[in-house]
Amino acid sequence: MILHKVLLVTTKTVSVEVLSLARSYGQRQAVADISFSIAPGEIFGFLGPNGAGKSTTIGMIAGLIAPDHGTVKICGFDIVADRQSAKQRLGLVPQDLALYETLSAEDNLQFWGQMYGLGGVALRKRIGEVLEFVGLVGREKEQVAQYSSGMKRRLNVAAALLHKPEVLLLDEPTVGVDPQSRNRLLEGIAHLKAQGMAILYTSHYLEEAERLCDHVAIVESGRLIALGTPQTLKAKGGGSLRLEVLSGFPDLAEIKKLKAVARVIWQENLLHIESDRPQTIIAAVLSLLQAEGVIIRNLELFEPSLETVFLQLTGKSLRDQ
Ligand SMILES: Nc1ncnc2c1ncn2[C@@H]1O[C@H](COP(=O)(O)OP(=O)(O)OP(=O)(O)O)[C@@H](O)[C@H]1O
Ligand SMILES: [Mg+2]
Repeated sequence: MILHKVLLVTTKTVSVEVLSLARSYGQRQAVADISFSIAPGEIFGFLGPNGAGKSTTIGMIAGLIAPDHGTVKICGFDIVADRQSAKQRLGLVPQDLALYETLSAEDNLQFWGQMYGLGGVALRKRIGEVLEFVGLVGREKEQVAQYSSGMKRRLNVAAALLHKPEVLLLDEPTVGVDPQSRNRLLEGIAHLKAQGMAILYTSHYLEEAERLCDHVAIVESGRLIALGTPQTLKAKGGGSLRLEVLSGFPDLAEIKKLKAVARVIWQENLLHIESDRPQTIIAAVLSLLQAEGVIIRNLELFEPSLETVFLQLTGKSLRDQ
């Protein structure tokens, strides 16, 4: 009895606990020493460019990829030592969809429900509920091959929810998804959060994460390079101006001397000027460049955001991925 109570306390405070995870593929270190935790009712954004190690981390959390090092606990259960108990509490929507194209949506859900040990009237009722949740009622008899990619993604979310997990892992749920499905998915995620679910969500859309997530981790080359709330991270990173140069070479030293300029990066024909008040330096930068005979093709202003934090930390933009 007492043991049971202790367990409940543990499950209430942390839904996902990731400690020092690492994994290599041959010589390539895909994930190096990653640690974080997710509380119930929290949306945790795991953000990074292509190849950063997001899917490998999710695979290890879901018990599909064996870590070289580190541990994962789902609601207190170790994904390796207490695999069954951990898996029961976990729903996974993989980056590469896990659906049978030739079956109907309903038959796919029937199949996945049985995989989770569900069946009979209870499963039929639950299928109705998850279809309703993802907005696919009335389309459930259609073959999945006929679905749009957004509908497929929604169906995969429905499949992951069949066994009422406490933790949901979503790997790039909005990539290649039409705006209607995207909104539906994001609303659904917010709704699950309100019900107390812990949600891990990987993406390389920083604006989306900024809107949705309670905490975000920025990962690059298998390492966490920033971790915090979107607000605290944004406070660390200023904004920037990005100018595409058509011809000429800007004098970087002169630009650096301008008031409110923090850093200047020149990459091929792109000039990044970091500043916490980027709008205030536009006029001065343009007149300097004009005096130097530099011709500009395009100018973009980035207000302080997760995107600018990423740019400051890595010198790269995620928008271009
Ligand atoms: N099965 C594998 N065999 C060999 N290398 C792999 C394998 N899976 C991933 N990698 C490598 O590990 C690194 C991390 O890959 P991972 O798929 O985890 O990144 P990701 O952040 O999910 O990228 P994406 O945004 O493209 O989905 C990459 O360099 C990738 O090439
Ligand atoms: Mg991936």
